[in-house]
Amino acid sequence: MDLNLQGRKVLITGAGDGIGRALALEFAEMGAQVSGCARSQDRLTSLSKEIKGKGHLFCPTDLTQMEEIQTLHGNVMEAFGGLDVLINNAGSILKLGDFFSVTDRDWQDSFNINLMPVVRLSRLFIPALKLSKAPRIINISSIAGSRPGDLFPHYSAMKAALSNFTASLAQTLAGEKILVNSVSPGPVWTRSWQQEVDLASENSDKNLSDLKEEIKAQTAQGVPLKRMGLPEDISGIVLFLASDRSSWITGSNFTIDGGVTRNPY
Ligand SMILES: NC(=O)c1ccc[n+]([C@@H]2O[C@H](COP(=O)([O-])OP(=O)(O)OC[C@H]3O[C@@H](n4cnc5c(N)ncnc54)[C@H](OP(=O)(O)O)[C@@H]3O)[C@@H](O)[C@H]2O)c1
Repeated sequence: MDLNLQGRKVLITGAGDGIGRALALEFAEMGAQVSGCARSQDRLTSLSKEIKGKGHLFCPTDLTQMEEIQTLHGNVMEAFGGLDVLINNAGSILKLGDFFSVTDRDWQDSFNINLMPVVRLSRLFIPALKLSKAPRIINISSIAGSRPGDLFPHYSAMKAALSNFTASLAQTLAGEKILVNSVSPGPVWTRSWQQEVDLASENSDKNLSDLKEEIKAQTAQGVPLKRMGLPEDISGIVLFLASDRSSWITGSNFTIDGGVTRNPY
């Protein structure tokens, strides 16, 4: 199936690592013009050295700051002259605690990174998306939104809000033929997991690599396909949603989780 993404102008938030990085590499492989952001200049520089093709744009941006979002918008519009696909991927658990250890500040911080950048970037880029022949907004949510556990309730609630907002925005923008969907990954091995292993190792007598394998194996046990996801496992559905082949899909959420949730509806 030719997804025909050649020349498509794409913005991916959180492109420096994990799922966002894999998406940037795969969109570029398909000939798309990729822009991306993250806070770390080093990680964006490393991506810019690896990515295929020319004319991509990487902007260090803290998405919790409105002025930086505005600068990102200005830079993308100046460099690309428009946008076809907005991928709101950046997000973070921030604190792996239960309800009693999560403070008001943690709830606010979670709101600031997991929900508000999506609202603000959508608002800023809608005028450009209206001019696109195949406009798309794709939000990376999480199965934590529909299947919360007792850990990180602040993150799960924000992801539930993100999936809900996706459906609302899809209705708002349907008249403009801007398609808005979300993708909800299950456990995918990325830097955020590695950071948790690093933290856990401080209170463990196991070495880092044994602890990493143990956490991976334990997590895989809860996945019917018996492995954690890789960032590349999420890319396929996102590439498809960005393509012309998804032209009758909006307001939907796609779960990619190795069979964890198995929600038939
Ligand atoms: N991995 C999983 O198991 C999993 C499961 C379900 C859903 N998800 C969702 O999938 C998305 C990607 O997750 P991931 O695991 O690939 O994450 P990751 O490896 O931790 O990468 C997150 C990216 O977002 C950027 N970022 C974080 N805070 C930012 C901020 N304030 N401003 C700008 N950029 C920021 C990070 O760069 P800097 O730190 O340099 O800013 C990094 O490039 C997230 O929305 C996450 O919630 C992940």
